[in-house]
Amino acid sequence: MRKFVWIQLILGLLTAAVLGQALSPEEIAGKVANLLSRMTLTEKIGQMNQYSNKWDMTGPKPEDDAKAYRYNDIKNGNVGSMLNVVGAAATRAAQQLAVDSSRLHIPLIFGIDVIHGYKTSFPVPLAMAATWNPELVEKAAAVAAGEAAAAGIHWTFAPMADISPDARWGRIMEGAGEDPYLASQMVAAQVRGYQGNDLSSENTIAACAKHYAAYGAARAGRDYNSVELSLYSIYNIYLPPFKAAVDAGAVTFMNAFNTLNGIPATGNRFLVKDVLKGKWGFEGFVVSDWSSIAELINHGVAANLKQAAEIAATGMTDMDMESFAYRRHLENLVQEGKVDEALIDESVGRILTIKYQLGLFDDPYKYCSEEREKTQLLTDENRAISRKIAAESMVLLKNSDNLLPLSKDIKSVAVVGPLSNDKDSPLGNWRCQAGADNAVSLLEGIQAIVSPETRINFVKGLDIDNNNVRSFDGKIDVKSVIKAARRSEVIIAAVGETAMMSGEARSRMDVGLPGRQLELLQELNRLGKPMVVVLFGGRPLTIPWLAENVPAILMSWEAGSESGNAIADILFGDVVPSGKLPVTFPYHVGQEPLVYNELNTGRPQLNDQQGFVSKYIDGPKEPLYPFGYGLSYTDFEYENLRLNRPVIRIGEPLRVGVTLKNTGKYSAREVVQLYIRDLVASIARPVKELKAFEKVELKAGESRDVTFILDNKVFGFYNDNYEFIVEPGEFEIMVGGNSVDVMKITCKIVE
Ligand code: NOJ
Repeated sequence: MRKFVWIQLILGLLTAAVLGQALSPEEIAGKVANLLSRMTLTEKIGQMNQYSNKWDMTGPKPEDDAKAYRYNDIKNGNVGSMLNVVGAAATRAAQQLAVDSSRLHIPLIFGIDVIHGYKTSFPVPLAMAATWNPELVEKAAAVAAGEAAAAGIHWTFAPMADISPDARWGRIMEGAGEDPYLASQMVAAQVRGYQGNDLSSENTIAACAKHYAAYGAARAGRDYNSVELSLYSIYNIYLPPFKAAVDAGAVTFMNAFNTLNGIPATGNRFLVKDVLKGKWGFEGFVVSDWSSIAELINHGVAANLKQAAEIAATGMTDMDMESFAYRRHLENLVQEGKVDEALIDESVGRILTIKYQLGLFDDPYKYCSEEREKTQLLTDENRAISRKIAAESMVLLKNSDNLLPLSKDIKSVAVVGPLSNDKDSPLGNWRCQAGADNAVSLLEGIQAIVSPETRINFVKGLDIDNNNVRSFDGKIDVKSVIKAARRSEVIIAAVGETAMMSGEARSRMDVGLPGRQLELLQELNRLGKPMVVVLFGGRPLTIPWLAENVPAILMSWEAGSESGNAIADILFGDVVPSGKLPVTFPYHVGQEPLVYNELNTGRPQLNDQQGFVSKYIDGPKEPLYPFGYGLSYTDFEYENLRLNRPVIRIGEPLRVGVTLKNTGKYSAREVVQLYIRDLVASIARPVKELKAFEKVELKAGESRDVTFILDNKVFGFYNDNYEFIVEPGEFEIMVGGNSVDVMKITCKIVE
């Protein structure tokens, strides 16, 4: 027995020596305190300064003045972090500058936007949310982290935890859509995936929840615009995904660009001091967004960069991304007594703690391995995961007469439309190091899956690019497209947005099909041939004509490196679609912002004939496709919605059961969604709120009981004092395959 213990101990020590044992929090705290005590004020402020890469790190030292300034700052210990240094060799070179030349040899932390993959591209985050499969999303984030870490990166600026109620906002593609519960699940999954169990592992990187907070509620869907929100919405809708990030262990946060009720989110004491670092007890650090400290001047709350630095530092932004505000002014502000040095110590302590957690003090170069970078990026295994998640993210919006799936032995198929052979658009915005040369177009995906005898008649017919979102005078070659279509049994038309039509600063005032694409589809439709429209895009698109006239529509989003293969998997039946919309698809852009979980009005519309009710006089108020919607090749029936008891006491859980039956011909997956409605409360409550979901796989003919155990908190909400309360009363429980087609049952909560 004793011998066994000794062997265990020796093995343990050997493993720790080989793998590099993670330090305990106490050990890290001791080391941080010791290091801080040896740092000058200038060196401390240096840690709070982040620069972007502006020159070739592996080349000669820069001669240009501005670049040389940054270069010297790294050498002198005046930089704590860099972003956009790409590749193992470049990060090694930059790290060497900091570690070899600075007095205290403190390593840099390298960050970059790994938003949906590093080199292997995964679907954009909005599409990943459409999988309603947090496990798979976690896996994708873990793969992305592994690739980024192999290329020298320690830190990603993801996940984006912003709720996005407005399809016009270009950055809707970066988040999980409109619902706080679904978004919280997705955010937590990404944090777990990026960070793993041990930040010091060479396969994990630090996550960053952004943009704190409420950035997605930009007025009129215009990026960087101001945000005006009720406390109800802030607490119950916009903050929960950020809280989920903290609970999942995210070690950094990023400020947002917007003002929130008049106060910029950067340097916002309420958001950062009171809520994030106060109430939530967040122990990591907060980085500003790019130049968002300097932008306090444009917001009109700071007269100059020095005042901006003061507001940001006292508002507890720990690191300045590219504003030069801390670098230039923080030291003077401390000397003048305007910023307490204790605040600086706190910020620097938080930053150094993460550097220790990442293991950078043990080996500053452990992530910069050119060997790993060569072998671990864009592997077949990573591509296979990307293909799987891509197929699972796609949402079948329409499938009249079961046109889909198509047979692989089809004799002829027309592949048309501007995006049909496009390898760039599916990579979406924020593609990091992914390249079109490694992506699969829809045409290639179809070529690879159909029988060698199938004739593919390919004609694009129309070009669209990132710059002609509105242009209706692009050259359109209807004749050739019609000719190709005439010669084919089925038409597959690829239309939608190119990659740079969504993302940062890509707000649109019209979210329809850009350019002349609709015209092309209308011409094709006149042929009366079966037509499948494959939609590309990073946001909900308004497609009422398509919904009415085209038999089959698949939303493929921007699905990453394996997009074409994944679309083909769905079109030809290798994968049965199971994606569900994480955002409402509007009928018309004038309905935006449009969400399913709105508050009831005093005059809800109950039927078409009513006059003075909440509606439009020139169109429906209902969306084209509701939140949670998505078809399958099979049919599911919901039966026997039941509760373990109809009345529960405050604090008690409730068990909800439903029987799900696969009545169709395919083995398939269904996302069973549970919504609640608080019928009478002290404040107006949403008409529906998603509270639970489960993705269930059933064989043809199989049925299964699905059970949800609802914690009593599910029935509560935050009041205006940010207190969480559960009120007694009646609640509707709704279960179904989307937010509209649901079964209902009521329960009562008593004191
Ligand atoms: C600005 C964006 O708002 C933010 O999301 C991103 O992480 C930074 N730039 C760094 O690229």
